[in-house]
Amino acid sequence: MDVSLRTIFPFFATLLLLQTLSSATTCSDCFISSKAAYYPDSDVQGTEIGACGFGSFGATINGGDVSAASELYRNGVGCGACYQVRCTDKYYCTDKGVNVVITDQGSGPQTDFILTRRAFSRMAQTTDAGASLLARGVVDIEYRRVSCSYPNKNITIKIDENSTYPHYLAFVIRYQQGKKDITAVQLCETQNFKCKLLDRSYGAVWTTTSPPSGPLTLRMLFSDDDDETWVIPVNNIPQDWKHGETYDTGVQVN
Ligand SMILES: *[C@@H]1O[C@H](CO)[C@@H](O)[C@H](O)[C@H]1NC(C)=O
Ligand SMILES: *[C@@H]1O[C@H](CO)[C@@H](O)[C@H](O)[C@H]1NC(C)=O
Repeated sequence: MDVSLRTIFPFFATLLLLQTLSSATTCSDCFISSKAAYYPDSDVQGTEIGACGFGSFGATINGGDVSAASELYRNGVGCGACYQVRCTDKYYCTDKGVNVVITDQGSGPQTDFILTRRAFSRMAQTTDAGASLLARGVVDIEYRRVSCSYPNKNITIKIDENSTYPHYLAFVIRYQQGKKDITAVQLCETQNFKCKLLDRSYGAVWTTTSPPSGPLTLRMLFSDDDDETWVIPVNNIPQDWKHGETYDTGVQVN
């Protein structure tokens, strides 16, 4: 508890300060013009085979409002990031658009996003307008990065089925929150704080051979252009971690 509070408070303070400073000079909240298409077979859900490695979780995250990204995939760093996407035809589209989570990599004709059919339709004012948008296939949009928020969810670690205790550990970070990227992950022995940097295997999948032993403290580096902060969860990964298990870190990030 103590450790995490010390780590997280400066994080919030810095974030606030930076936002105040940067709003005067840059325009990180501005919308960027692009195009979006949709997955043909994604009526209600996302995809279980997305390039981010979220697995079945990828189908249900954010109620199925998810998207594949082309450039914004950024070699997997973009996995779990959230974007507000709105189509620009004022006759059919709402101002609000839809908030999506990146769970896959993919591109269409000049598109930055390939949304699920569900998310694509949700940019429209009515069901009929949604049908008209779907009929077009590709539409003009504007997008901007937004903070991911999952009410009542802590950041969670899902140990991959391929992990073999104690030699090989692979996991996915679920419910990434806030507006920053997770750019590095460490595992530390809680006893002597010996740490090991993990590899981003692909997407949101982090792996290590010969992981440290005993109860493990996870450290996640949250980064944007202005700032980097290590976030240290309240809860440890238990010493006898098991493949397929899910562990609650006990932290949320704004
Ligand atoms: C787990 O193993 C399967 C089969 O070898 C592979 O397709 C999959 O990508 C692996 N998952 C991870 C997270 O490495
Ligand atoms: C999140 O973590 C806190 C401890 O930091 C815990 O009290 C709470 O129950 C957790 N929430 C969920 C939804 O697991």
